[in-house]
Amino acid sequence: MEDYYWDTQLEYLKGTRDLYYNDDYLDFLVTRVWKITNPVNIIDFGCGYGYLGLKLLPLLPKGSKYTGIDKGQQLINKAVDYFHDLPYDTEFIVADTIEVKLECKYDIAICHAFLLHMSEPQKMLQKMVDSVIDGGKIICFEPHWISGMSSYELEGHEQSQLVPLGILQKIFEEKASKTGNDGNIGAKIPKYLSELGVENIQCRVSDKVNFLHPDTNQQEKDRLFYALKEEGVGGEPTNKEQFMESLIKRGVSLKEAQEQYEAELLFSQVFNKESSLIYSPSMKITFGDIKSIMHNLK
Ligand SMILES: C[S@@+](CC[C@H](N)C(=O)[O-])C[C@H]1O[C@@H](n2cnc3c(N)ncnc32)[C@H](O)[C@@H]1O
Repeated sequence: MEDYYWDTQLEYLKGTRDLYYNDDYLDFLVTRVWKITNPVNIIDFGCGYGYLGLKLLPLLPKGSKYTGIDKGQQLINKAVDYFHDLPYDTEFIVADTIEVKLECKYDIAICHAFLLHMSEPQKMLQKMVDSVIDGGKIICFEPHWISGMSSYELEGHEQSQLVPLGILQKIFEEKASKTGNDGNIGAKIPKYLSELGVENIQCRVSDKVNFLHPDTNQQEKDRLFYALKEEGVGGEPTNKEQFMESLIKRGVSLKEAQEQYEAELLFSQVFNKESSLIYSPSMKITFGDIKSIMHNLK
């Protein structure tokens, strides 16, 4: 049987999560923004290896419980492994979130880099809302790719030479309209949640700005460079013909496809461990309160 794609992506997931938030910012969100002072029962949709649980449980009041649900059996096995020796109450479910019928309700439904992979994200948001008790919360950490793309600064090069934003805008938009999978979904969730009747909606942005610099100590440089490469920063485009063909199929002109190829090639040639680079993923964190709301999308 063919491997489930995300089960093969553990190294990518583990290698990149640290690019997004500083621990003190997550602490700030839990204690100052969401003001979680009593133990909570949390469910994480598309939990992967349990990244959010590992980050949030140490910050949540003692007695909190984390349930992770994911389609990837290998990822869930890893999550069970990671939590095995930790003093937290956890439960892991291997299931397709589209089909699963949850047996109970939770205080908080969360997700991280999950809704962008849904072809019908609003339906999934409805399901997340339905999984929460009256008075509970929904919290979505999702990407806003074009915002992340606009954040690069590599010393010695104009940003437009390396990351032509107009072409990327088109490519991301075309993908979303063709498949429903929307890499800019982070910026749309506030509106989607308001359509579902969620109250007190707020949207924040991830705080971390990664700075690779020749003066950084070697260990940190190795760690950050590896994470950036896993994230795809300065990835070398393979096979020019196929690259161009696939972009043209996605609605960009021959000239734009050529420009994108050259930009990615140049980025891959000039980016290395001794580069001075700024990159901030600019994830959007949207949250709101569930109050006996209607179930609009059913
Ligand atoms: C980009 S990964 C994010 C994983 C984790 N939230 C994190 O940030 O490390 C997307 C995750 O969504 C899960 N996923 C995607 N579609 C799913 C579905 N229909 N049912 C359950 N999990 C799903 C994948 O298995 C994968 O683990």
